[in-house]
Amino acid sequence: MKILMVVSELSPYVKTGGLADMVSSLSRELVRNGNDVRALIPFYGSIEERWRRNMRPLASPLCVHMGQERWARVHETIERCGLHVYFLEHHHYFDRERPYDSCYGAYGDNGERFAFLCRAAIDLPSLIDWIPDVFHCHDWMASLVPVYLETVVRHGPLGNSASVLTVHNLEHQGYGDKSIVQMAGLPQWTFRPDGLEACGAVNFLKGGIYFANKLTTVSPSYGEEIKTAEGGFGLDGALRFRGGDIIGILNGIDCEVWDPATDSALAANYSSKNISAKSTCKSALQKMCHLDERQSAPLFGVISRLHWQKGLDTLCDAMEWILAHMDIQFALLGAGQWQLEERFRLLANRHSGKMFAAIGYDEELAHRIEAGCDFFIMPSRFEPCGLNQLYSLRYGTLPIVRATGGLRDTVQNYGNCEDCGTGFVFNDLTADAIRGTIRWACDTYHRAPAHMAAMIRRAMESDFSWSRSAIRYCECYRWALQSKS
Ligand code: ADP
Ligand code: GLC
Repeated sequence: MKILMVVSELSPYVKTGGLADMVSSLSRELVRNGNDVRALIPFYGSIEERWRRNMRPLASPLCVHMGQERWARVHETIERCGLHVYFLEHHHYFDRERPYDSCYGAYGDNGERFAFLCRAAIDLPSLIDWIPDVFHCHDWMASLVPVYLETVVRHGPLGNSASVLTVHNLEHQGYGDKSIVQMAGLPQWTFRPDGLEACGAVNFLKGGIYFANKLTTVSPSYGEEIKTAEGGFGLDGALRFRGGDIIGILNGIDCEVWDPATDSALAANYSSKNISAKSTCKSALQKMCHLDERQSAPLFGVISRLHWQKGLDTLCDAMEWILAHMDIQFALLGAGQWQLEERFRLLANRHSGKMFAAIGYDEELAHRIEAGCDFFIMPSRFEPCGLNQLYSLRYGTLPIVRATGGLRDTVQNYGNCEDCGTGFVFNDLTADAIRGTIRWACDTYHRAPAHMAAMIRRAMESDFSWSRSAIRYCECYRWALQSKS
């Protein structure tokens, strides 16, 4: 099948979260399975020189048929695996350091910027003489693609192309003034409650939900949660309406990038067959993070966007007591809301030797934390899938998670016995529940080493590769194509 991924970030070129990892690892797996997969992403100013070197500009510029014609340059990279990546260059829209926001908040013209990306996805196929069977669109930033396909280009060369929209995170829906409809070159009738309209404004994701041929979410549990008032962020009605066309497919991970046996960022490599070098990674991490170098202290890691979604404000509430009363250590890596950054910085200052906080974005440190810690904490308010708990499982770092979305679907709770569990699961997002679960993990660490060892082995041997899920995406593409015929 010919599949065009339309997405606002893609690893390794630009990444702010799991979206970039998910789309690149799924695309590569689909290529390995014999599909012709291409991806269109914006050419951001932050894309590093080392990637630019491998790009070549297409011979002709791309005419993007918004309400008024606009022009863009497109650059192409063909990855070793065979994935084609197209970078959409438009100085005014995309030559910026960060994809969605600056230090003053979200860019005011995000609606216009991503409408441009969507329309470019529609115009690209004729320029490269390649008609996709399926446009696979990700999140609100690509949500106008299905709207274009079912309206203005319905009877052209893309008439048989289907669309699949994957909802990675319902919290972000993409709003804009209703003038965006005209600016984007869409018919006015699409601005209606079972289309793009919500509360008098344009809601990109809502449009995508109504117009896409099929919808997916990134875990089965999240697929159910978004249809409830509690998890639907105002779109639960639309999602229930499309309920028969939605499936939840669990994300996989890139098992080459995240492999403790070969990971070059680590002080030592290890595998489920020989785990002994994991303690070398722990000592190296303690040293690097200025923590007391003791194997006996259980070390907990956090790597996260510091955002309301992740429940880290409640973790902070719990940590003051934990750090004062328990013999444990924390290594945190994160960036985001300044209030949370500040709280973690303060905790680290007050508890040096026990707590380390790196505020920023650092891929290499992320790998070292995954390998060097004993436990990994994700107390998310909601979590569509979550990749870090999957990386943790693969690195034998037992996840401590709240039972929500993909966390619920991927971590099996410990049951005080040797033959069950890959981590620790709690239900309520309260400081008490976090404290209690951390205590439980510490007790297990000290008193039940055989149970710990069995859990670590089970976690490391769980299969979270793309092999099963990529097949489910192919089935979903065929399902979407059927609804076009
Ligand atoms: P989300 O996409 O909601 O942020 P995921 O768990 O799906 O959550 O993916 C987060 C990804 O971003 C992981 O690959 C994680 O390692 C990475 N990440 C998050 N924050 C940082 C950071 N500060 N430094 C390095 N990597 C980070
Ligand atoms: C979103 C979600 C996260 C998910 C990622 C990739 O960023 O917040 O849970 O893992 O997308 O699908």
